[in-house]
Amino acid sequence: MDVIPLGPGFGAELRGVALADVVADDDAYAAVRAVFEEQSVLVLRGQEVTDALQLAFSRRFGPPEVTKVGSQGTGTHFVILTTIGPDGKVVPADHRMQLRNKANQLWHTDSSFKRVPALTSILSARIIPEHGGETEYVSTRIAFERLDAKLQRQLENSFAWHDYAHSRGKIAPGLATEEERAALPAQCWRMVWRNPKNGRGALYLASHAYAVEAMEASAGTRLIEELSETATAPGCSYLHQWRQGDVVMWDNRATMHRGRPWPSHEPRLMIRTTISATEADGLDSMRPPFWQAVERGRGEPAAPRHGQV
Ligand SMILES: [Fe+2]
Repeated sequence: MDVIPLGPGFGAELRGVALADVVADDDAYAAVRAVFEEQSVLVLRGQEVTDALQLAFSRRFGPPEVTKVGSQGTGTHFVILTTIGPDGKVVPADHRMQLRNKANQLWHTDSSFKRVPALTSILSARIIPEHGGETEYVSTRIAFERLDAKLQRQLENSFAWHDYAHSRGKIAPGLATEEERAALPAQCWRMVWRNPKNGRGALYLASHAYAVEAMEASAGTRLIEELSETATAPGCSYLHQWRQGDVVMWDNRATMHRGRPWPSHEPRLMIRTTISATEADGLDSMRPPFWQAVERGRGEPAAPRHGQV
């Protein structure tokens, strides 16, 4: 297996290894997993992807998420990201499916708004538009390591609230439905995710983050925005230009990503599988101290109201 560096200090293309090798061979999995822990974004080109193969590859890394209500693929292990309607035609630019793509174009990390956040997402290109539609990545690990030691310590002891309805509300009021709101109450996570394999910390941020626990609303929002701006500053990203047969996987603990726009009349179909984080991935260290009180049945702390953004 060859490891070809791609981005500014993170990201690598793997050559000489295929999805099926990782499924079938423990050594191949261990080798890919080790690069994943260090590089955060992995690209495999020229793969012959089927849903079954993508899922078998994904399962190597942990338990697959079941797709939430309101997303295409709900109840399965696949998220279908597309603007192609049931009649085979591209839906109009103001369709909910197109608006959801706009929300995907905000910097985020997948599933931080869920009760169990995601270790990794695996995305395969099935139909690619002729122009645009790239996926852009930044390393929140590198961003964290650039901060001064005092701020690092502060963030390691800070907790942010994440809410799916918040990121959707930035695009259109009501884009998150009542059903989604009810199924996805706000979640609170430590603002730094320390990788248990190599000990390196990363900012845990997303467009879903809207408040910092025990911090005045506007100050919390400002802190989240400033950290996001630092992490996504020009020159910090790797832009993945999709080709047929590409599979990209990324570490949601140590990156943020965003979709890039493409002409809304051009079809695009991507299939995502998402693997939940487990204790071995450092999940327990991410829960706020008051979580233990929750577990003991003392009642869940109220999520702060959304600040004036
Ligand atoms: Fe995403």
